[in-house]
Amino acid sequence: MPTILIVDDDPHIRAELTEFLQQEQYDTTAVETAEEALEIIRSEQPDLILSDIFLPTMGGLELLDRVKKAHAEIDVIMITGHGDVSTAVSAMKLGARDYIKKPFHLDEILLVITRALQNKARDEQLAYLQREERKLLGFEEIIGTSPPMQQVFELIRKISRSSRTTVLIHGETGTGKELVARAIHQNSERSGKPFIEINCSAFQPTLLEAELFGYEAGAFTGARQRKKGLLEIADGGSFFLDEIADMSLELQAKMLKVLEEQTFRRVGGTKEIKIDIRVISATSKDLDVATLKGSFRQDLYYRLNVARIALPSLRERGDDVIILAKHFLDHYNRELKRDIHSISPDVVNILKRYSWPGNVRELRNIMERAVLFEQSDTLTASSLHTMLDNDNDTSKPAKGITGTHPLELQIPPGGVALVDVEKRLIMQALELTGGNQTKAAELLKLTRETLKYRMRKFQLH
Ligand SMILES: Nc1ncnc2c1ncn2[C@@H]1O[C@H](COP(=O)(O)OP(=O)(O)OP(=O)(O)O)[C@@H](O)[C@H]1O
Ligand SMILES: [Mg+2]
Repeated sequence: MPTILIVDDDPHIRAELTEFLQQEQYDTTAVETAEEALEIIRSEQPDLILSDIFLPTMGGLELLDRVKKAHAEIDVIMITGHGDVSTAVSAMKLGARDYIKKPFHLDEILLVITRALQNKARDEQLAYLQREERKLLGFEEIIGTSPPMQQVFELIRKISRSSRTTVLIHGETGTGKELVARAIHQNSERSGKPFIEINCSAFQPTLLEAELFGYEAGAFTGARQRKKGLLEIADGGSFFLDEIADMSLELQAKMLKVLEEQTFRRVGGTKEIKIDIRVISATSKDLDVATLKGSFRQDLYYRLNVARIALPSLRERGDDVIILAKHFLDHYNRELKRDIHSISPDVVNILKRYSWPGNVRELRNIMERAVLFEQSDTLTASSLHTMLDNDNDTSKPAKGITGTHPLELQIPPGGVALVDVEKRLIMQALELTGGNQTKAAELLKLTRETLKYRMRKFQLH
């Protein structure tokens, strides 16, 4: 039964509306002032508010404004004075669903209320459908139909349903750990809230601590003003701790407390800050080994490992490699404005036989370069060859980016912008080195300064 809150200082109107609406099977509460109305809204949320514009102390428009700001989902219908068009307009601007002019007929009230509640139901349904659609999109991005991937999808579905369970994602580099973490967030009821990620291997321990927990002004030299930590920013949402095995033992202890109590203190702070987050962590290292060696706390391991997703390597995914290759082919055709519509049978063979040490990321990079440099409209083996590590031949150094010296590349028929090639190579060097600028500069035979200059030029960060 929909609940309606009636706000009017005229006792006759209150009585009349109450009697009529109850007859019409609505659950009603009637109050005299806006203040009383706000009191009621705080404890029980009505579906709809029917309020007079003229109220003794706080006016109807202010009530409307406050309600819409705090509870946008509650519909408000205003009762305005006869011929008072401008207040009616203000009410609509402030978010009223509708208005009724005095004097009114009860039938008219009924019509407006029914229509408002119907519209509200439709809005809710639409919002629900949009949520569902987003969910589907989130999933669609993870390509794969092989049995081990179907198991992964099933786990994602199950885990998404609970919004507190901590998740540990384990898998080799490039298997899609981050993608899975995002899918879990997107499919959970936390999807409207932030998804915050941090790579534990990318920061010095003290910096990582400051990033996670934030700090108070004066907590250490350089801490001029208070800064919120990422954990605080993630409140209500999901927190993705990537490369968790690289977290220092000291921080591990602090993280354990966060997981157990959902509270923490800023660096240099005394106040306990309460948060509500789901922690998703990922590792490419074996945490069992790390705990045995003593570099990872066993209690934290148990706490993180409540639900576990083991991502199969690309080698274990059978024909997924072909499906993925076609997916990336489409993607880079669009992005690089090429039109390579098929993959030759010998490429299919190579893709299936290769061992993919860099997994899906490696496949993605290879497809990108192949699309860029393929000269015909079919992806042929020659455009792949230089890019793959030769499995059986361990005597040669692995061919990464250095194996495809730009001078060996051929210009595609449509031509190619040199700056695009440069930008892409810089992006690849950064990706290969996990963002380490010194190492990326080495790969590209540049000084770090030159690399930084070019990154600025291409707006790469
Ligand atoms: N199943 C998949 N479908 C489509 N794209 C995928 C899939 N798996 C991975 N990718 C793509 O491969 C790349 C690597 O994925 P991701 O960053 O999630 O891997 P990771 O396991 O976190 O790697 P790392 O351990 O190196 O951080 C991304 O570009 C991602 O979009
Ligand atoms: Mg990752």
